[in-house]
Amino acid sequence: MSTTGEALALVDLDEDGIDRAFRTQVLDGLAQPHKAVPARWFYDEEGSRLFEEITRLPEYYPTRAEVEILEGRRADFARLIAPGQVVVEFGSGSSLKTPLLLGSIDAAAYVPLDISGDFLRASAAELAGKFPGLPIHPVEADFMKPVVLPAAVAGRSKLGFFPGSTIGNMVAPTAVDLLRSMRETLGEGAQLLIGMDLIKDPAVLEAAYDDAAGVTAAFNLNLARRINRELDGTIPIAKLRHVACWNDTWARIEMHLEATEEIAFEVSGRRFTMAQGETIHTENSHKFDRRSQYTLLLAGGWTPVARWLDREERFSLLLAEATPPRNAP
Ligand code: TRP
Repeated sequence: MSTTGEALALVDLDEDGIDRAFRTQVLDGLAQPHKAVPARWFYDEEGSRLFEEITRLPEYYPTRAEVEILEGRRADFARLIAPGQVVVEFGSGSSLKTPLLLGSIDAAAYVPLDISGDFLRASAAELAGKFPGLPIHPVEADFMKPVVLPAAVAGRSKLGFFPGSTIGNMVAPTAVDLLRSMRETLGEGAQLLIGMDLIKDPAVLEAAYDDAAGVTAAFNLNLARRINRELDGTIPIAKLRHVACWNDTWARIEMHLEATEEIAFEVSGRRFTMAQGETIHTENSHKFDRRSQYTLLLAGGWTPVARWLDREERFSLLLAEATPPRNAP
């Protein structure tokens, strides 16, 4: 495996080894009229473990549905995805999905992008074992901004890979910004293979984000535990309840932590209160139909080329290509 990832100072730790951005964003978020904490802070070690568990839950259909598409549409990928492209994955890669894609197409190299160097190195090493001949160039970077790809893959056309409906965890303006910056990262002639979850019966959606075994609840509550652990918090965990609800205006599942009674607590020496029923908003997962998917892709500079659904039509994978600069208003 050739490694070109640079050790950039992406995370700024304080004297206790706590990410400064975590403290700032939690304190700012809890001071808002509608309390909210950015979802990126879910993923400490325990959060990442719980998330893996979520993807295997009976109610959580997206992972299985997307894998079904990746397994069933190999012939389509081989036909529609140009050979000899460099696969650039946004996120450190799923041990399940990435090998399925790389096994179906004739890729020239694989470039995983992730802000977490640890995840990145672990998944790159695992993949190197499965595809011994494939050059792998992990890049430690925040992919929300345009990324300079390693010189070793310059001059080749790129296929972006963004599975998991992670695009749905962003509000539309942020999603469009990301699609545009992906286009800039990937360059002229690029293709993009992107997973997007579909609008469906709210009961099915709510169950997917509030499973009977309580794993998603534990995942959500772990954020409050992490705040207590790392930021000297006194949040009374037992008085918070996990809520997943469908917001039809925004076409999204929202996750909240709701106070079951009036509470007061401290975080990093700052005092906060919550009335009974007040929530901390922790995550959005937007859902789409074909038209909203196309509009989003087009707004981000990508023209849809193909769209696949699983047999039960719960999830979709879309192939798009970089649109040349617009010549009309
Ligand atoms: N993007 C996926 C989704 O929205 C995975 C995900 C992100 C998720 N955050 C989550 C799943 C929180 C459950 C709970 O479904």
